[in-house]
Amino acid sequence: MKLARIALSALVSAAALAAADASAQGRLNLYCSVQEDWCQLMQTEFEKATGVRVAMTRKSSGETYAQIKAEKDNPRGDIWWGGTGDPHLQAAEENLTAAYESPRMGEMQDWAVQQWKTGRQRTVGIYAGALGFGFNTELLAKKSLPEPKCWADLVKPEYKGEVQVANPHSSGTSYTMVASLVQILGENGAFDYLRKLNVNVNQYTKSGAAPIVAAGRGETLVGIVFMHDAITQAVRNFPIKTVAPCEGTGYEIGSMSIIAGARNMESARRFYDWALTADAQALGAKAQSYQVPSNRNAPTPPQAPRLSDVKLINYDFQKFGSSDERKRLLTRFDAEIKISN
Ligand code: F6P
Repeated sequence: MKLARIALSALVSAAALAAADASAQGRLNLYCSVQEDWCQLMQTEFEKATGVRVAMTRKSSGETYAQIKAEKDNPRGDIWWGGTGDPHLQAAEENLTAAYESPRMGEMQDWAVQQWKTGRQRTVGIYAGALGFGFNTELLAKKSLPEPKCWADLVKPEYKGEVQVANPHSSGTSYTMVASLVQILGENGAFDYLRKLNVNVNQYTKSGAAPIVAAGRGETLVGIVFMHDAITQAVRNFPIKTVAPCEGTGYEIGSMSIIAGARNMESARRFYDWALTADAQALGAKAQSYQVPSNRNAPTPPQAPRLSDVKLINYDFQKFGSSDERKRLLTRFDAEIKISN
């Protein structure tokens, strides 16, 4: 009996010690807005490097922004890593995220630093990627359709029901499309285009990359996505060709922000500093994610679309990442583009 009591108390103190140890190493609630594989790799590699225990939630950019806003009086997340820069900028403007200057800032590309400045130090660029689309080459041949090369092609009657894109509320990719079209065609021209495109769209998905996964599997002919997401499907041996639209296109500065009032602020800063290292940024390619990294010393994966070969517009992040503009464009989208899902 006495022996059992001693054994039990030894067990209790061991458990208490383990708990103290875990809290000494720290915890981190990570909100992640890239592809699941990359999110998981970041989670496990950060845990390995630091001993911090990470709880990771993956959601699209617009969804994560909405969640952080809904939780603002009682923040549950500590850091938001990945996702398009516009909603990160909106969160910064609304003070949902906290200012921070990492000792790694000197290693960043100018565009990443510019994002940090635009966001009043509340968000930083972690990668860049150009918007485009991809199509299933086998399906195209089977349907005897011409190769789409331009934004203008995607609204042609022959592609009726053949295009998939995400919903711009949930998806940063799709909001980037709306904002890019506004910058290329003017606002009324863009909404005219989106109305015509709507006729050809077979589904508005929640996540930005989903349409090209569907195209790879032959469930849709075309998916409007970031070009790097189309390349991932081609690398995985799906019959996908990636297109940089002939008129020119927008791009994203994928971003990272510390959530204001984070309960695990120290772990959040540790993750932030680590995520800016060249080594951590090289993990993207291991997860078959081919964005251009923001650390100047991180290798750009050879599969990544060369941004210098793409006709990029001078995307106005200040304007299209502002709270008023994003809300206004999404409201206009709802009013004019009647989507069923
Ligand atoms: O798949 C990765 C990625 O395209 C990122 O480059 C981008 O920031 C993010 O997904 C956008 O995802 P969503 O459109 O679902 O918000």
